[in-house]
Amino acid sequence: MSSEANNENPGDVRDALRDVVASAREWLVDLAEEGVDDLEVPVVEPSVAFTAPVVEAPAAKPAAAEPPRRTAPERADLSLLREGPDWGANPTLDQVRETLGDCQRCELCARRQTIVFGSGNPDADIMFVGEGPGEQEDKQGLPFVGRAGELLTQMIEKGVEIPRSDVYICNIVKCRPPGNRNPKPEEAAACRPFLDGQIAAVKPKVIVTLGKPAASLLLGRDVAITRVRGTWQDYQGIPLMPTLHPAFILRQYTPENRRLVWEDLKAAVSRMRELGGRS
Ligand code: URA
Repeated sequence: MSSEANNENPGDVRDALRDVVASAREWLVDLAEEGVDDLEVPVVEPSVAFTAPVVEAPAAKPAAAEPPRRTAPERADLSLLREGPDWGANPTLDQVRETLGDCQRCELCARRQTIVFGSGNPDADIMFVGEGPGEQEDKQGLPFVGRAGELLTQMIEKGVEIPRSDVYICNIVKCRPPGNRNPKPEEAAACRPFLDGQIAAVKPKVIVTLGKPAASLLLGRDVAITRVRGTWQDYQGIPLMPTLHPAFILRQYTPENRRLVWEDLKAAVSRMRELGGRS
């Protein structure tokens, strides 16, 4: 951010700093919970020998300025959270997207550039659920198109050899949490009916959750992702495989972490095929 922008908008700078500190705090809490007690900068060695296909960490891109603020609702209208739409047995993704509309159901709408609904095959047999859009996703309106997204794409296309366009990808919240902090419970709750609608529309044979927030939300309990990853869970009759978030892999880019995710994705794809999935 330029010093000119700082002088013009000291409130924005304060908010941005608060967001950065909040994200850092959440990251440290996640790491502690995940049993990480060593914060050495991970060595990125694409040529390192390991059993998983070599998936290179995408290069960092320069940061861009934050978008201008929109008018935020005073606070989330919690009455909207009590009941989601009744999607019926066979909603379509278009119906779910239409119902979402120009969503103002939580405070994330104030700083978003675009709503990031989801992308991929509407009849996918495998569905990936992440946390929330980052900066690139917010700009482009598509999920997982930043660095973590590039890694996810490689994990899908090189790791388990499925075209990304065959799977469906979305997030638990459709608007970017400022500073990429974790979505707040009321934000995840406001967006939950739309995630449920997406699942009801796509009817995947297998769901893969990426990281702790998505696994915790869909399993309805606070999970320690390093303990639960790689174990089969159930979401309303759909087998659910929790795995590590690609952003976590980028921060801890070790052969072991890459191997774990590869194992999880292989298990998810085998299960999907056992259940008659085609990809
Ligand atoms: N991009 C997304 O769309 N979701 C995430 O969880 C992270 C990056």
